[in-house]
This record gives sequence, structure tokens and C-alpha cells, in this order.
Amino acid sequence: MGSLEAERTTVGWAARDPSGVLSPYTYPLRNTGPDDVFIKVHYCGLCHSDIHQVKNDLGMSNYPMVPGHEVVGEVLEVGSNVTRFKVGEIVGAGLLVGCCKTCTACQSDIENYCSKKIWSYNDVYIDGRPTQGGFAEHMIVEQKFVVKIPEGMEPEQVAPLLCAGVTVYSPLAHFGLKESGLRGGILGLGGVGHMGVKIAKALGHHITVISSSDKKKKEALEDLGADSYLVSSDATSMQEAADSLDYIIDTIPVGHPLEPYLSLLKLDGKLILMGVINTPLQFVSPMVMLGRKSITGSFIGSMKETEEMLQFWKEKELSSMIEIVKMDYINKALERLEKNDVRYRFVVDVKGSKLDQ
Ligand SMILES: NC(=O)c1ccc[n+]([C@@H]2O[C@H](COP(=O)([O-])OP(=O)(O)OC[C@H]3O[C@@H](n4cnc5c(N)ncnc54)[C@H](OP(=O)(O)O)[C@@H]3O)[C@@H](O)[C@H]2O)c1
Ligand SMILES: [Zn+2]
Ligand SMILES: [Zn+2]
Repeated sequence: MGSLEAERTTVGWAARDPSGVLSPYTYPLRNTGPDDVFIKVHYCGLCHSDIHQVKNDLGMSNYPMVPGHEVVGEVLEVGSNVTRFKVGEIVGAGLLVGCCKTCTACQSDIENYCSKKIWSYNDVYIDGRPTQGGFAEHMIVEQKFVVKIPEGMEPEQVAPLLCAGVTVYSPLAHFGLKESGLRGGILGLGGVGHMGVKIAKALGHHITVISSSDKKKKEALEDLGADSYLVSSDATSMQEAADSLDYIIDTIPVGHPLEPYLSLLKLDGKLILMGVINTPLQFVSPMVMLGRKSITGSFIGSMKETEEMLQFWKEKELSSMIEIVKMDYINKALERLEKNDVRYRFVVDVKGSKLDQ
């Protein structure tokens, strides 16, 4: 392990083209550098962004591509400069594995907004090799991008927090939306959305789920603890809820009208876009002017926010609702996620899977 003579390889599941079908793929991994942590992946969550990537929704995909960016695993080896992590420790990794460290964003500990950030897959590392993600036996990650996991947290529970969890925690923190008593909306009750309900409820917010159907109503109210549930096509209920929300976290992954949701916001309310959408979104300007409303977006969260969110999650004793599957189910899981058929996040038991067949 880590020898200089032989190149290290690992096996992951890669898409080879925009069909997005994954299959076993063996590829080289760099040896452990002074600042690197070599990780054996135990669990990896499946995010809708993985679908956008493997299916080339944004026209920027390179193949073969091993997706996966909600990674929990065990440290197998650390570089000589690494003091924060020990061999045998269970750690996390997310969507980023590199940044420039000198720009304003990096210097302000919001490296997720660095324009030279390096994605954990479908990107090129500083050594010129393609980066590959967490649906793999191993990953090698610079220590800055390795997440400390608070003691006692279950690894499979932590996985979806590393993207979905921090993706909702970060804008709530940044936009001053952590105080209790606020009224929030979660638009789209999927992986990110269900984290939104959990985190916002734990902050003491009154939460309305806004969904495309009534299929998730009972579980949203009874299992996730939402206070109210709106079906977006129910014009009467949407009208009754006008001007009622301080913010909406919009997780819809496809093009959709914004005006019905802008109407739900109070004066100064914020529509926070999360979905990665490759078509222009539209609204008429009075919809924002007349209530001084904002439409904004947010991109995952920083390493600092990730660790803060994990601590918050532990303190509040929250749990994610996940469906654990093996790697040989991944293509079915992708298909079901795309069809809105998961409650609410698939997590792949990578450690318990045979990866090379
Ligand atoms: N900004 C970031 O940093 C960040 C981080 C993570 C993910 N994302 C993006 O956020 C989006 C959501 O990710 P996710 O993993 O939560 O996805 P997901 O699990 O598929 O959830 C999306 C939810 O949106 C609703 N939805 C799906 N298709 C729809 C359609 N055609 N029309 C209306 N509503 C629809 C569904 O909720 P209902 O059944 O309740 O309608 C679905 O559960 C994706 O675009 C993903 O790439 C962004
Ligand atoms: Zn994600
Ligand atoms: Zn930077």
C-alpha cells in the first residue's frame, strides 16, 4: 500500500456514456501524498446531482465517470503532514476535493465558492488525472476535504448529510434563517428536501412541504414532522397560503415556473434555488418587486459548515430516512430516483458489496 514502485488501482462503478448506466471499472489512484488521506469507502449516498452528471444534463460530462459524493469510509493510510486523522478512523468526504486556497472565498473558509475548486468526480486533479467519486472501493482525498465525524454517529446515516444535509444547512446559516419561529417552505420532498424538513424543524421553524402530489403527505406530516403540506397544483390551497413564508428551499431538479412559489413568500422572503436546472427559469419582475423578495441560490456548504452541521445533527438527535442498497442495485436505484420513487435517499453499502462483478 502506498509503495512508490507499483501504481495503486481501485475498482468503482462508472458510467461510460450519457445512458448513465454504471458498471465495474478499474482505475489508478495516486499514492498517498503528505497531505492525503487514503480511504476505504463504507457507504455512499446517491444524490440527484449524480444523475445530472452521469446523464450529461449540463453537457460537461467526461467518461468513464465514477459518481458518488456522500462518502463515509475508514482511513487506511495518512500522509506525513496529516495530524487530524488517524488510521482506522471513520471519516467523510463530499463533493469537493480541491481549491486554490488563496482567493477571497478560500481565505474566508467558503472554499465551496472558489472558482478553482476541484470536484470529487468529473473533474481533473492537480496531477492531471481525472477525479473519481465514492461508488468505489477507495478514494484518496486531501486532508482539508476530509470531514471529521462526531463520535457515535452511524456511518450510513451520516452519508446523506455530506451533500444533502449541508446543502440546506448552509443557506439557512448564511441568510440568517436559523432563528426559531420562522416559517419555511420545502419545495420538493426528495433527498435534499427531507433534510430540509429535519433541519428546519430542529431549528424551531414552522415548515410547509410543497409537493407535486399528495403521495407524501401522510409521511411528511407524521414521520418527518412537517406542520403543513401543499400540493402545488391545488390552486385554492396555494392561494390561501399566499404571503405566508419567510423562505422556500426549492429542490425541484427540472425547469418549473417560479411565480406560484414567489407568491407564497412574505415581504422580504427568499426563494433559495437548489436544483441544477439546464433551462432558463422565468418570472415577471413585479413578483419580486412588490414584496422586495429575493431569488437566490446556494451551492453545498463549506468544510466548516459541514462539520458544524454534523454537530448540530448529533446534538438534536436527528436521523435521515434512507434506503440502503448494494452496489449491484445502483442502476435500479438511479432509475427509481429519477422516477421520484425513494424515501428519501438511497445509500449504497459499498463495503458490503462485491464491486468487481
Ligand atoms: N445546490 C446544491 O448544492 C445542490 C446539492 C445537492 C443537490 N442539488 C440539486 O438539487 C436537486 C434535488 O436533489 P435531490 O437529491 O434532493 O433530488 P430528489 O431526491 O430527486 O428530489 C427532488 C424532488 O423534487 C420533486 N420533483 C422531482 N421531479 C419533479 C418534477 N418533474 N416536477 C416537480 N417536482 C419534481 C420531487 O418531490 P415531490 O414528490 O415532493 O414533488 C422530488 O422528490 C437536484 O437538481 C440536485 O442536483 C443541488
Ligand atoms: Zn449532491
Ligand atoms: Zn480559491
